Amino acid sequence: MSVHEDNILILDFGSQVTQLIARRVRESSVYSEILPFNVPIGEIRAHNPKGLILSGGPASVYAPGAPHPDPRVFELGIPVLGICYGMQLITQHFGGKVEPASHREFGRAELRIDQPAGLFDGLGAETLVWMSHGDRIARQPEGFTTIAHTDNAPVAAFADLARRVYGLQFHPEVVHTAEGRAMLENFAYNVCGCKPTWTMAGFVETEIARIREQVGGGKVICALSGGVDSSVAAVLVHKAIGDQLTCVFVNNGLLRTGEAEKVVATFRDHMGMNLVFADEADRFLGKLKGVSDPERKRKIIGNTFIEVFDHHAERMTGVGFLVQGTLYPDVIESVSAKGPSATIKTHHNVGGLPEDLKFTLVEPFRELFKDEVRAIGRELGVPMEIIQRQPFPGPGLAIRILEEVTPERVALLQKADAIVLEEIKAAGLYERIWQSFAVLLPTKTVGVMGDERTYENVVVLRAVHSVDGMTADWVHLPYELLGTISNRIINEVRGVNRVCYDISSKPPATIEWE
Ligand code: XMP
Repeated sequence: MSVHEDNILILDFGSQVTQLIARRVRESSVYSEILPFNVPIGEIRAHNPKGLILSGGPASVYAPGAPHPDPRVFELGIPVLGICYGMQLITQHFGGKVEPASHREFGRAELRIDQPAGLFDGLGAETLVWMSHGDRIARQPEGFTTIAHTDNAPVAAFADLARRVYGLQFHPEVVHTAEGRAMLENFAYNVCGCKPTWTMAGFVETEIARIREQVGGGKVICALSGGVDSSVAAVLVHKAIGDQLTCVFVNNGLLRTGEAEKVVATFRDHMGMNLVFADEADRFLGKLKGVSDPERKRKIIGNTFIEVFDHHAERMTGVGFLVQGTLYPDVIESVSAKGPSATIKTHHNVGGLPEDLKFTLVEPFRELFKDEVRAIGRELGVPMEIIQRQPFPGPGLAIRILEEVTPERVALLQKADAIVLEEIKAAGLYERIWQSFAVLLPTKTVGVMGDERTYENVVVLRAVHSVDGMTADWVHLPYELLGTISNRIINEVRGVNRVCYDISSKPPATIEWE
Protein backbone atom coordinates (compact mmCIF):
# COMPACT_ATOMS: atom_id res chain seq x y z
CA MET A 1 0.00 0.00 0.00
CA SER A 2 1.28 3.41 -0.82
CA VAL A 3 0.11 6.45 1.07
CA HIS A 4 0.07 9.63 -0.96
CA GLU A 5 -0.69 12.78 0.95
CA ASP A 6 -3.61 13.82 -1.25
CA ASN A 7 -5.37 10.72 -2.43
CA ILE A 8 -8.85 9.61 -3.35
CA LEU A 9 -9.98 6.05 -2.76
CA ILE A 10 -12.37 4.23 -5.03
CA LEU A 11 -14.45 1.32 -3.80
CA ASP A 12 -15.17 -1.13 -6.60
CA PHE A 13 -18.67 -2.54 -6.90
CA GLY A 14 -17.90 -4.40 -10.12
CA SER A 15 -18.41 -1.91 -12.91
CA GLN A 16 -16.41 -2.71 -16.05
CA VAL A 17 -15.14 0.87 -16.07
CA THR A 18 -14.10 1.36 -12.44
CA GLN A 19 -10.45 1.53 -13.47
CA LEU A 20 -11.24 4.53 -15.65
CA ILE A 21 -12.32 6.50 -12.59
CA ALA A 22 -8.84 6.04 -11.08
CA ARG A 23 -7.29 6.99 -14.36
CA ARG A 24 -9.27 10.19 -14.76
CA VAL A 25 -8.54 11.26 -11.19
CA ARG A 26 -4.82 10.58 -11.69
CA GLU A 27 -4.93 12.53 -14.94
CA SER A 28 -5.85 15.45 -12.70
CA SER A 29 -2.55 14.82 -10.85
CA VAL A 30 -4.31 13.48 -7.77
CA TYR A 31 -3.35 9.98 -6.70
CA SER A 32 -6.19 7.50 -6.74
CA GLU A 33 -6.39 3.83 -5.91
CA ILE A 34 -9.11 1.18 -6.18
CA LEU A 35 -10.04 -1.17 -3.34
CA PRO A 36 -12.67 -3.92 -3.22
CA PHE A 37 -16.07 -2.74 -1.96
CA ASN A 38 -15.84 -4.84 1.21
CA VAL A 39 -12.38 -3.74 2.33
CA PRO A 40 -12.16 -3.39 6.13
CA ILE A 41 -12.75 0.15 7.35
CA GLY A 42 -9.34 0.15 9.04
CA GLU A 43 -7.62 -0.25 5.70
CA ILE A 44 -9.54 2.68 4.27
CA ARG A 45 -8.53 4.82 7.25
CA ALA A 46 -4.90 3.74 6.86
CA HIS A 47 -4.88 5.26 3.36
CA ASN A 48 -5.94 8.55 4.89
CA PRO A 49 -7.95 9.54 1.78
CA LYS A 50 -9.27 13.04 1.17
CA GLY A 51 -12.31 11.64 -0.60
CA LEU A 52 -14.11 8.42 -1.45
CA ILE A 53 -15.74 7.37 -4.72
CA LEU A 54 -18.23 4.50 -4.84
CA SER A 55 -18.15 2.96 -8.32
CA GLY A 56 -20.93 1.65 -10.48
CA GLY A 57 -21.79 -2.03 -10.56
CA PRO A 58 -24.08 -4.56 -12.17
CA ALA A 59 -26.26 -5.30 -9.11
CA SER A 60 -29.40 -3.61 -7.78
CA VAL A 61 -29.00 -2.20 -4.27
CA TYR A 62 -32.26 -3.76 -3.11
CA ALA A 63 -31.43 -7.25 -4.45
CA PRO A 64 -30.48 -9.97 -1.96
CA GLY A 65 -26.70 -10.39 -1.83
CA ALA A 66 -26.03 -6.99 -3.45
CA PRO A 67 -22.57 -5.70 -2.50
CA HIS A 68 -22.62 -3.17 0.34
CA PRO A 69 -19.67 -1.35 1.91
CA ASP A 70 -19.10 -1.04 5.63
CA PRO A 71 -21.68 1.66 6.58
CA ARG A 72 -18.92 3.49 8.47
CA VAL A 73 -17.54 4.67 5.11
CA PHE A 74 -20.20 7.39 5.39
CA GLU A 75 -18.87 8.51 8.77
CA LEU A 76 -15.27 9.18 7.83
CA GLY A 77 -15.88 12.91 7.62
CA ILE A 78 -14.59 13.05 4.04
CA PRO A 79 -16.53 13.77 0.84
CA VAL A 80 -18.19 10.80 -0.87
CA LEU A 81 -19.15 10.60 -4.54
CA GLY A 82 -21.39 7.77 -5.67
CA ILE A 83 -21.51 6.91 -9.35
CA CYS A 84 -24.58 5.04 -10.65
CA TYR A 85 -24.78 2.00 -8.30
CA GLY A 86 -22.75 4.09 -5.84
CA MET A 87 -25.41 6.80 -5.96
CA GLN A 88 -28.10 4.22 -5.27
CA LEU A 89 -26.14 2.96 -2.25
CA ILE A 90 -26.06 6.52 -0.93
CA THR A 91 -29.79 6.88 -1.52
CA GLN A 92 -30.53 3.71 0.38
CA HIS A 93 -28.10 4.44 3.20
CA PHE A 94 -29.50 7.90 3.89
CA GLY A 95 -33.13 6.78 3.79
CA GLY A 96 -34.19 7.50 0.20
CA LYS A 97 -35.79 5.03 -2.19
CA VAL A 98 -34.39 3.19 -5.22
CA GLU A 99 -36.66 1.33 -7.60
CA PRO A 100 -36.43 -0.33 -11.02
CA ALA A 101 -36.77 2.23 -13.82
CA SER A 102 -39.76 1.73 -16.10
CA HIS A 103 -37.23 1.45 -18.94
CA ARG A 104 -33.50 0.89 -18.61
CA GLU A 105 -31.53 3.89 -19.75
CA PHE A 106 -28.42 3.40 -21.88
CA GLY A 107 -26.40 5.85 -23.88
CA ARG A 108 -26.19 9.59 -24.32
CA ALA A 109 -28.37 12.04 -22.47
CA GLU A 110 -28.43 15.80 -22.20
CA LEU A 111 -27.66 16.81 -18.61
CA ARG A 112 -29.20 20.06 -17.41
CA ILE A 113 -27.31 21.52 -14.53
CA ASP A 114 -29.42 23.05 -11.75
CA GLN A 115 -26.62 23.94 -9.31
CA PRO A 116 -23.24 24.57 -10.86
CA ALA A 117 -21.25 25.29 -7.68
CA GLY A 118 -18.77 22.61 -6.63
CA LEU A 119 -19.03 19.51 -8.78
CA PHE A 120 -20.17 21.26 -11.96
CA ASP A 121 -18.05 24.38 -11.62
CA GLY A 122 -17.02 25.89 -14.96
CA LEU A 123 -19.24 23.59 -17.04
CA GLY A 124 -21.90 24.63 -19.53
CA ALA A 125 -25.57 24.71 -18.45
CA GLU A 126 -26.19 21.66 -20.63
CA THR A 127 -23.70 18.90 -21.26
CA LEU A 128 -23.68 15.41 -22.76
CA VAL A 129 -23.41 12.50 -20.35
CA TRP A 130 -23.38 8.71 -20.63
CA MET A 131 -26.13 6.84 -18.81
CA SER A 132 -26.16 3.14 -18.13
CA HIS A 133 -28.56 2.00 -15.44
CA GLY A 134 -31.68 0.00 -14.79
CA ASP A 135 -32.65 1.55 -11.43
CA ARG A 136 -33.67 5.06 -10.57
CA ILE A 137 -33.95 7.28 -7.52
CA ALA A 138 -37.64 7.28 -6.60
CA ARG A 139 -37.16 9.47 -3.54
CA GLN A 140 -34.13 11.50 -2.55
CA PRO A 141 -32.94 11.10 1.00
CA GLU A 142 -33.55 13.88 3.51
CA GLY A 143 -31.07 16.73 3.21
CA PHE A 144 -30.22 16.06 -0.45
CA THR A 145 -31.03 18.41 -3.30
CA THR A 146 -31.11 17.73 -7.02
CA ILE A 147 -28.17 19.43 -8.72
CA ALA A 148 -28.81 18.19 -12.29
CA HIS A 149 -31.48 16.35 -14.27
CA THR A 150 -32.15 14.87 -17.70
CA ASP A 151 -35.42 14.31 -19.55
CA ASN A 152 -35.63 10.73 -18.26
CA ALA A 153 -33.93 11.13 -14.91
CA PRO A 154 -35.39 13.90 -12.75
CA VAL A 155 -32.58 13.22 -10.25
CA ALA A 156 -29.52 12.71 -12.46
CA ALA A 157 -27.25 14.21 -9.78
CA PHE A 158 -27.83 15.08 -6.15
CA ALA A 159 -25.86 16.43 -3.24
CA ASP A 160 -25.98 16.91 0.48
CA LEU A 161 -23.72 19.93 0.64
CA ALA A 162 -23.48 19.93 4.43
CA ARG A 163 -22.28 16.32 4.59
CA ARG A 164 -20.39 16.67 1.29
CA VAL A 165 -22.03 13.59 -0.21
CA TYR A 166 -22.70 13.56 -3.96
CA GLY A 167 -24.34 11.16 -6.37
CA LEU A 168 -24.27 10.91 -10.17
CA GLN A 169 -26.67 8.67 -12.06
CA PHE A 170 -24.39 8.76 -15.14
CA HIS A 171 -20.74 7.81 -15.69
CA PRO A 172 -18.33 10.77 -15.62
CA GLU A 173 -15.33 8.44 -16.17
CA VAL A 174 -16.15 7.36 -19.74
CA VAL A 175 -15.14 9.44 -22.75
CA HIS A 176 -18.75 9.76 -23.90
CA THR A 177 -19.43 12.06 -20.95
CA ALA A 178 -18.09 15.19 -22.57
CA GLU A 179 -17.10 17.05 -19.42
CA GLY A 180 -16.68 14.03 -17.15
CA ARG A 181 -13.05 14.65 -16.52
CA ALA A 182 -13.80 18.19 -15.35
CA MET A 183 -16.46 16.83 -12.98
CA LEU A 184 -14.01 14.39 -11.37
CA GLU A 185 -11.39 17.12 -11.24
CA ASN A 186 -13.90 19.41 -9.52
CA PHE A 187 -14.65 16.65 -7.03
CA ALA A 188 -10.95 16.20 -6.31
CA TYR A 189 -10.02 19.89 -6.13
CA ASN A 190 -13.15 21.79 -5.05
CA VAL A 191 -14.96 19.23 -2.95
CA CYS A 192 -12.11 17.18 -1.45
CA GLY A 193 -9.55 19.98 -1.42
CA CYS A 194 -6.81 17.90 -3.06
CA LYS A 195 -3.83 19.62 -4.60
CA PRO A 196 -2.52 18.41 -7.98
CA THR A 197 0.69 16.95 -6.58
CA TRP A 198 0.72 13.50 -8.16
CA THR A 199 3.27 13.61 -10.95
CA MET A 200 5.57 10.93 -12.33
CA ALA A 201 8.52 12.56 -10.57
CA GLY A 202 6.48 12.58 -7.37
CA PHE A 203 5.52 8.95 -7.83
CA VAL A 204 9.14 7.93 -8.35
CA GLU A 205 10.21 9.80 -5.22
CA THR A 206 7.43 8.35 -3.05
CA GLU A 207 7.96 4.82 -4.34
CA ILE A 208 11.72 4.96 -3.80
CA ALA A 209 11.12 5.96 -0.18
CA ARG A 210 8.46 3.29 0.21
CA ILE A 211 10.64 0.56 -1.30
CA ARG A 212 13.54 1.50 0.98
CA GLU A 213 11.24 1.34 3.96
CA GLN A 214 9.65 -1.96 2.93
CA VAL A 215 12.93 -3.70 2.14
CA GLY A 216 15.30 -2.20 4.73
CA GLY A 217 18.67 -3.89 4.41
CA GLY A 218 17.12 -7.02 2.85
CA LYS A 219 18.05 -8.70 -0.38
CA VAL A 220 15.68 -8.47 -3.29
CA ILE A 221 15.34 -10.37 -6.52
CA CYS A 222 13.53 -9.19 -9.56
CA ALA A 223 11.82 -11.32 -12.11
CA LEU A 224 13.15 -9.52 -15.15
CA SER A 225 11.44 -10.37 -18.42
CA GLY A 226 12.87 -7.58 -20.55
CA GLY A 227 9.39 -6.18 -21.10
CA VAL A 228 8.41 -2.64 -20.20
CA ASP A 229 6.84 -3.39 -16.82
CA SER A 230 9.51 -5.53 -15.21
CA SER A 231 12.32 -3.46 -16.76
CA VAL A 232 11.01 -0.18 -15.39
CA ALA A 233 10.29 -1.90 -12.04
CA ALA A 234 13.88 -3.19 -11.93
CA VAL A 235 15.34 0.22 -12.72
CA LEU A 236 13.13 1.87 -10.08
CA VAL A 237 14.08 -0.67 -7.40
CA HIS A 238 17.74 -0.49 -8.44
CA LYS A 239 17.58 3.25 -7.99
CA ALA A 240 16.12 2.76 -4.52
CA ILE A 241 18.41 0.05 -3.17
CA GLY A 242 21.27 -0.43 -5.65
CA ASP A 243 23.20 -3.67 -5.26
CA GLN A 244 20.74 -5.16 -2.79
CA LEU A 245 18.85 -6.02 -5.96
CA THR A 246 19.69 -8.98 -8.16
CA CYS A 247 17.71 -9.50 -11.34
CA VAL A 248 16.99 -13.00 -12.49
CA PHE A 249 16.31 -13.37 -16.16
CA VAL A 250 14.83 -16.73 -17.05
CA ASN A 251 15.09 -18.17 -20.50
CA ASN A 252 11.93 -20.26 -20.41
CA GLY A 253 12.38 -21.42 -23.98
CA LEU A 254 9.32 -19.38 -24.96
CA LEU A 255 11.05 -16.14 -25.87
CA ARG A 256 11.36 -14.41 -29.20
CA THR A 257 14.40 -14.65 -31.43
CA GLY A 258 17.45 -12.90 -29.96
CA GLU A 259 15.57 -11.73 -26.86
CA ALA A 260 17.76 -13.34 -24.19
CA GLU A 261 20.96 -11.85 -25.62
CA LYS A 262 19.41 -8.38 -25.79
CA VAL A 263 18.24 -8.40 -22.18
CA VAL A 264 21.64 -9.50 -20.84
CA ALA A 265 23.41 -6.84 -22.91
CA THR A 266 21.09 -4.06 -21.74
CA PHE A 267 20.83 -4.72 -18.03
CA ARG A 268 24.13 -6.35 -17.14
CA ASP A 269 26.46 -4.59 -19.56
CA HIS A 270 24.76 -1.25 -20.12
CA MET A 271 23.06 -0.55 -16.78
CA GLY A 272 25.47 -2.39 -14.52
CA MET A 273 22.89 -4.38 -12.57
CA ASN A 274 23.48 -7.73 -10.88
CA LEU A 275 21.94 -10.16 -13.33
CA VAL A 276 21.63 -13.93 -13.13
CA PHE A 277 20.88 -15.60 -16.43
CA ALA A 278 18.93 -18.79 -15.80
CA ASP A 279 18.80 -20.93 -18.91
CA GLU A 280 15.85 -23.18 -18.12
CA ALA A 281 14.30 -23.85 -21.52
CA ASP A 282 14.36 -27.63 -21.09
CA ARG A 283 12.72 -27.51 -17.67
CA PHE A 284 9.78 -25.40 -18.94
CA LEU A 285 9.30 -27.26 -22.21
CA GLY A 286 9.53 -30.57 -20.36
CA LYS A 287 6.70 -29.59 -18.02
CA LEU A 288 4.56 -28.30 -20.86
CA LYS A 289 4.80 -31.58 -22.72
CA GLY A 290 1.35 -32.93 -23.49
CA VAL A 291 -0.46 -29.90 -22.02
CA SER A 292 -2.94 -28.05 -24.21
CA ASP A 293 -5.26 -26.29 -21.76
CA PRO A 294 -4.47 -22.53 -21.69
CA GLU A 295 -5.06 -22.05 -17.98
CA ARG A 296 -2.91 -25.10 -17.16
CA LYS A 297 -0.12 -23.75 -19.35
CA ARG A 298 -0.24 -20.46 -17.47
CA LYS A 299 -0.23 -22.16 -14.06
CA ILE A 300 2.66 -24.46 -15.01
CA ILE A 301 4.73 -21.59 -16.34
CA GLY A 302 3.94 -19.39 -13.33
CA ASN A 303 4.84 -22.14 -10.86
CA THR A 304 8.01 -23.08 -12.72
CA PHE A 305 9.08 -19.43 -12.66
CA ILE A 306 8.71 -19.38 -8.88
CA GLU A 307 10.58 -22.70 -8.62
CA VAL A 308 13.46 -21.21 -10.58
CA PHE A 309 13.47 -18.04 -8.49
CA ASP A 310 13.37 -20.03 -5.28
CA HIS A 311 16.37 -21.95 -6.45
CA HIS A 312 18.40 -18.86 -7.28
CA ALA A 313 17.26 -17.00 -4.20
CA GLU A 314 18.38 -19.90 -1.99
CA ARG A 315 21.78 -19.80 -3.60
CA MET A 316 22.01 -16.08 -2.83
CA THR A 317 20.98 -16.61 0.83
CA GLY A 318 18.78 -14.21 2.68
CA VAL A 319 16.57 -13.02 -0.18
CA GLY A 320 13.24 -11.94 1.26
CA PHE A 321 11.62 -9.92 -1.51
CA LEU A 322 10.51 -10.41 -5.07
CA VAL A 323 9.92 -7.47 -7.43
CA GLN A 324 7.23 -7.84 -10.05
CA GLY A 325 6.03 -5.40 -12.66
CA THR A 326 2.39 -6.32 -12.11
CA LEU A 327 0.02 -3.73 -13.57
CA TYR A 328 -3.53 -2.86 -12.68
CA PRO A 329 -5.08 -4.70 -15.66
CA ASP A 330 -3.23 -7.88 -14.56
CA VAL A 331 -4.76 -7.53 -11.12
CA ILE A 332 -8.30 -6.76 -12.22
CA GLU A 333 -8.46 -9.53 -14.81
CA SER A 334 -7.19 -12.09 -12.30
CA VAL A 335 -9.57 -11.16 -9.49
CA SER A 336 -11.32 -14.33 -8.40
CA ALA A 337 -14.89 -15.03 -9.39
CA LYS A 338 -15.84 -14.11 -5.82
CA GLY A 339 -15.12 -10.46 -6.59
CA PRO A 340 -17.67 -8.33 -8.34
CA SER A 341 -16.00 -8.64 -11.78
CA ALA A 342 -15.55 -11.91 -13.66
CA THR A 343 -12.25 -13.79 -14.14
CA ILE A 344 -11.15 -13.70 -17.76
CA LYS A 345 -7.63 -15.11 -17.70
CA THR A 346 -5.23 -15.90 -14.92
CA HIS A 347 -2.19 -13.79 -15.67
CA HIS A 348 0.78 -15.77 -14.52
CA ASN A 349 2.35 -13.07 -12.38
CA VAL A 350 -0.76 -12.81 -10.25
CA GLY A 351 -2.92 -15.90 -10.39
CA GLY A 352 -0.17 -18.47 -10.83
CA LEU A 353 1.66 -17.76 -7.58
CA PRO A 354 1.58 -20.64 -5.11
CA GLU A 355 0.06 -20.10 -1.67
CA ASP A 356 3.29 -20.76 0.21
CA LEU A 357 5.30 -18.10 -1.58
CA LYS A 358 8.54 -17.53 0.30
CA PHE A 359 8.96 -13.92 -0.76
CA THR A 360 7.24 -10.71 0.12
CA LEU A 361 6.14 -9.06 -3.10
CA VAL A 362 7.33 -5.63 -4.17
CA GLU A 363 4.90 -4.44 -6.83
CA PRO A 364 5.30 -0.72 -7.36
CA PHE A 365 2.95 -0.57 -10.37
CA ARG A 366 0.03 -2.60 -9.03
CA GLU A 367 -2.26 0.39 -9.36
CA LEU A 368 -0.98 1.70 -12.68
CA PHE A 369 -1.59 1.34 -16.39
CA LYS A 370 1.00 0.62 -19.04
CA ASP A 371 1.17 4.18 -20.36
CA GLU A 372 1.76 5.44 -16.82
CA VAL A 373 4.62 2.96 -16.41
CA ARG A 374 6.10 4.13 -19.72
CA ALA A 375 6.01 7.71 -18.41
CA ILE A 376 7.80 6.57 -15.25
CA GLY A 377 10.39 4.79 -17.41
CA ARG A 378 11.05 8.03 -19.27
CA GLU A 379 11.37 9.83 -15.95
CA LEU A 380 13.96 7.25 -14.85
CA GLY A 381 15.94 7.39 -18.10
CA VAL A 382 15.20 3.80 -19.17
CA PRO A 383 16.35 3.34 -22.80
CA MET A 384 13.62 4.25 -25.30
CA GLU A 385 14.05 0.91 -27.01
CA ILE A 386 12.72 -0.77 -23.87
CA ILE A 387 10.07 1.81 -23.05
CA GLN A 388 8.55 1.58 -26.50
CA ARG A 389 8.56 -2.19 -26.60
CA GLN A 390 5.22 -3.70 -27.28
CA PRO A 391 3.91 -5.76 -24.37
CA PHE A 392 4.90 -9.42 -24.35
CA PRO A 393 3.03 -11.77 -22.03
CA GLY A 394 4.78 -13.60 -19.20
CA PRO A 395 3.93 -17.06 -20.57
CA GLY A 396 5.52 -15.93 -23.83
CA LEU A 397 4.99 -17.88 -27.00
CA ALA A 398 3.27 -20.68 -25.06
CA ILE A 399 -0.05 -18.82 -25.23
CA ARG A 400 0.49 -18.07 -28.93
CA ILE A 401 0.89 -21.73 -29.77
CA LEU A 402 -2.51 -23.31 -29.58
CA GLU A 403 -2.64 -26.82 -28.19
CA GLU A 404 0.60 -28.47 -27.08
CA VAL A 405 3.85 -26.50 -26.97
CA THR A 406 6.77 -28.41 -28.51
CA PRO A 407 10.34 -27.22 -29.24
CA GLU A 408 9.62 -27.54 -32.97
CA ARG A 409 6.52 -25.38 -32.74
CA VAL A 410 8.38 -22.78 -30.69
CA ALA A 411 11.15 -22.64 -33.32
CA LEU A 412 8.59 -22.27 -36.09
CA LEU A 413 6.70 -19.47 -34.32
CA GLN A 414 9.94 -17.65 -33.47
CA LYS A 415 10.75 -17.46 -37.17
CA ALA A 416 7.30 -16.25 -38.15
CA ASP A 417 7.26 -13.75 -35.28
CA ALA A 418 10.66 -12.34 -36.27
CA ILE A 419 9.33 -11.67 -39.77
CA VAL A 420 6.22 -9.91 -38.43
CA LEU A 421 8.35 -7.72 -36.18
CA GLU A 422 10.83 -6.90 -38.90
CA GLU A 423 8.16 -5.89 -41.41
CA ILE A 424 6.08 -3.91 -38.91
CA LYS A 425 9.22 -2.03 -37.90
CA ALA A 426 10.25 -1.47 -41.53
CA ALA A 427 6.81 0.02 -42.20
CA GLY A 428 7.37 2.45 -39.31
CA LEU A 429 4.37 1.09 -37.42
CA TYR A 430 5.96 -0.66 -34.44
CA GLU A 431 5.62 2.20 -31.93
CA ARG A 432 2.16 3.11 -33.16
CA ILE A 433 0.69 -0.32 -32.53
CA TRP A 434 -0.05 -1.73 -29.07
CA GLN A 435 0.91 -5.28 -30.09
CA SER A 436 1.68 -7.05 -33.34
CA PHE A 437 2.62 -10.71 -33.40
CA ALA A 438 2.13 -14.14 -34.91
CA VAL A 439 0.06 -17.01 -33.52
CA LEU A 440 0.59 -20.62 -34.52
CA LEU A 441 -2.40 -22.84 -35.13
CA PRO A 442 -1.12 -26.36 -35.32
CA THR A 443 -4.10 -27.18 -37.51
CA LYS A 444 -3.13 -28.49 -40.89
CA THR A 445 -4.65 -27.12 -44.06
CA VAL A 446 -4.11 -28.13 -47.67
CA GLY A 447 -1.98 -26.01 -49.97
CA VAL A 448 -0.05 -26.33 -53.18
CA MET A 449 3.60 -25.46 -53.65
CA GLY A 450 5.54 -26.09 -56.86
CA ASP A 451 2.87 -28.49 -58.16
CA GLU A 452 3.03 -30.48 -54.94
CA ARG A 453 0.23 -30.82 -52.45
CA THR A 454 1.17 -29.49 -49.00
CA TYR A 455 -0.57 -30.17 -45.71
CA GLU A 456 0.79 -27.72 -43.18
CA ASN A 457 0.16 -25.29 -40.31
CA VAL A 458 -1.65 -21.96 -40.21
CA VAL A 459 -0.05 -18.79 -38.87
CA VAL A 460 -2.36 -16.01 -37.72
CA LEU A 461 -1.21 -12.43 -37.74
CA ARG A 462 -2.59 -10.27 -34.92
CA ALA A 463 -2.14 -6.50 -34.64
CA VAL A 464 -4.18 -4.39 -32.22
CA HIS A 465 -4.52 -0.83 -31.08
CA SER A 466 -5.16 -0.37 -27.39
CA VAL A 467 -4.60 2.19 -24.67
CA ASP A 468 -4.27 -0.11 -21.70
CA GLY A 469 -4.84 -3.67 -22.87
CA MET A 470 -8.34 -3.72 -21.37
CA THR A 471 -10.05 -3.11 -24.69
CA ALA A 472 -8.53 -3.34 -28.16
CA ASP A 473 -9.34 -3.04 -31.81
CA TRP A 474 -7.64 -4.69 -34.76
CA VAL A 475 -5.34 -2.51 -36.81
CA HIS A 476 -6.23 -1.75 -40.42
CA LEU A 477 -2.78 -2.72 -41.70
CA PRO A 478 -2.07 -1.75 -45.31
CA TYR A 479 -2.85 -4.56 -47.78
CA GLU A 480 0.69 -4.37 -49.21
CA LEU A 481 2.16 -4.97 -45.77
CA LEU A 482 -0.20 -7.88 -45.13
CA GLY A 483 0.87 -9.30 -48.50
CA THR A 484 4.57 -8.96 -47.75
CA ILE A 485 4.27 -10.57 -44.33
CA SER A 486 2.19 -13.43 -45.69
CA ASN A 487 4.59 -14.07 -48.58
CA ARG A 488 7.63 -13.97 -46.40
CA ILE A 489 6.21 -16.31 -43.75
CA ILE A 490 5.00 -18.86 -46.28
CA ASN A 491 8.28 -18.75 -48.24
CA GLU A 492 10.72 -18.57 -45.35
CA VAL A 493 9.12 -20.60 -42.57
CA ARG A 494 8.97 -24.28 -43.27
CA GLY A 495 5.80 -25.93 -42.07
CA VAL A 496 3.45 -23.02 -42.83
CA ASN A 497 1.33 -22.82 -45.95
CA ARG A 498 -1.35 -20.34 -44.89
CA VAL A 499 -1.43 -16.95 -43.15
CA CYS A 500 -4.63 -15.37 -41.81
CA TYR A 501 -5.31 -11.96 -40.30
CA ASP A 502 -7.28 -11.73 -37.06
CA ILE A 503 -9.95 -9.03 -37.32
CA SER A 504 -11.53 -9.41 -33.89
CA SER A 505 -11.70 -6.69 -31.29
CA LYS A 506 -11.52 -7.07 -27.50
CA PRO A 507 -14.16 -7.58 -26.29
CA PRO A 508 -15.52 -10.00 -27.36
CA ALA A 509 -12.15 -11.62 -28.27
CA THR A 510 -9.00 -11.08 -26.20
CA ILE A 511 -5.66 -9.85 -27.49
CA GLU A 512 -3.81 -13.14 -27.02
CA TRP A 513 -5.39 -16.28 -28.40
CA GLU A 514 -5.19 -18.16 -25.11
P1 XMP B 1 -5.57 -10.41 -23.26
O1 XMP B 1 -5.15 -11.56 -24.07
O2 XMP B 1 -6.08 -10.80 -21.90
O3 XMP B 1 -4.27 -9.56 -23.00
O4 XMP B 1 -6.51 -9.49 -23.98
C1 XMP B 1 -4.23 -8.29 -22.42
C2 XMP B 1 -2.78 -7.89 -22.31
O5 XMP B 1 -2.13 -8.72 -21.32
C3 XMP B 1 -1.10 -9.49 -21.90
N1 XMP B 1 -1.19 -10.83 -21.32
C4 XMP B 1 -0.41 -11.28 -20.33
N2 XMP B 1 0.61 -10.71 -19.68
N3 XMP B 1 0.90 -12.65 -18.39
C5 XMP B 1 1.26 -11.40 -18.71
O6 XMP B 1 2.21 -10.90 -18.13
C6 XMP B 1 -0.13 -13.30 -18.98
O7 XMP B 1 -0.45 -14.43 -18.65
C7 XMP B 1 -0.81 -12.57 -20.01
N4 XMP B 1 -1.86 -12.87 -20.79
C8 XMP B 1 -2.07 -11.78 -21.60
C9 XMP B 1 -1.36 -9.47 -23.39
O8 XMP B 1 -0.16 -9.65 -24.13
C10 XMP B 1 -1.98 -8.11 -23.58
O9 XMP B 1 -1.02 -7.09 -23.64
